[in-house]
Amino acid sequence: MTEDAGVGSLKGTVAVVTGGASPHGIGRATARLLVARGAHVVVGDVQDDAGQALEAELGHSLIYRHLDVSSEADWASLMDAVIDRFGNVTALVSCAGIALDGTIESTPMADHDRVIAIDQTGVWLGIRAVAPSMRSAGGGSIVNISSVAGAVGQPCLGSYSAAKWAVRGITRQAASELADSGIRVNTVLPGFIDTMMGGQGADQRESLRLNKGHSGATVPMGRIGEPEEVARLVAFLVSAESSYCTGADFVIDGGLLAGPLAEAADWG
Ligand SMILES: NC(=O)c1ccc[n+]([C@@H]2O[C@H](COP(=O)([O-])OP(=O)(O)OC[C@H]3O[C@@H](n4cnc5c(N)ncnc54)[C@H](O)[C@@H]3O)[C@@H](O)[C@H]2O)c1
Repeated sequence: MTEDAGVGSLKGTVAVVTGGASPHGIGRATARLLVARGAHVVVGDVQDDAGQALEAELGHSLIYRHLDVSSEADWASLMDAVIDRFGNVTALVSCAGIALDGTIESTPMADHDRVIAIDQTGVWLGIRAVAPSMRSAGGGSIVNISSVAGAVGQPCLGSYSAAKWAVRGITRQAASELADSGIRVNTVLPGFIDTMMGGQGADQRESLRLNKGHSGATVPMGRIGEPEEVARLVAFLVSAESSYCTGADFVIDGGLLAGPLAEAADWG
């Protein structure tokens, strides 16, 4: 489908997308869609080879920069690069994330600290980094990717679930602090999405896609989601089409949270 400059156009938008390098990820699908709708995009990630390949493919409208979202120094360098190349930032999509298995009792402290640093503090640092630039631009839109794990307790993903709940709190706090600067902040909560993280490996992803697998069986719509479906929701939240939305949660899960969750007890 060709995107045009009509409804939902992102012409004039300068967007930072974290976690956009992974070849099958939600971040990459989002970066591609934002470019297709006319935005300039900077992808920040730790997968440099994959990020540079994306830049080589979409180089006029997209650049890649190394960014560990848990590093305040990396955020400062990224912002210098964005402003130098495209001008002030008007959108941030915080998509970077990791999921490590473990209950509260079984998770090693180092794993817990890493998940919180990337999935929670990374989102907080992103808002701190972009807010001054957005204010200079006269406003902007921030989209933080949480998870259905940020709406329920998720067995065996204790630190991940805690961080994803925190993302919703950070969103509300930022929305209330930044509204008078014309900056909107919203959360997206995906369910099972067909990515490396969602399927935890190519073989499992293929099995989920073909057979619906254990995940598809628990989803009322009977299938897992595609990264491009999440990207379209994110693009809506970035665009002026969502001009009165801020501080809100947007669930995209094929009905997962609406249906019985008991069968999903082995998610981790
Ligand atoms: N796939 C799912 O089923 C699902 C469900 C709910 C929420 N999510 C969330 O969606 C987001 C994207 O996940 P995905 O499914 O596309 O997985 P993915 O593994 O394909 O993408 C995650 C990206 O984050 C990057 N990343 C990891 N650590 C980083 C760091 N320190 N700094 C910068 N980048 C870093 C990875 O390199 C990768 O590109 C994550 O926040 C994840 O928690 C995914």
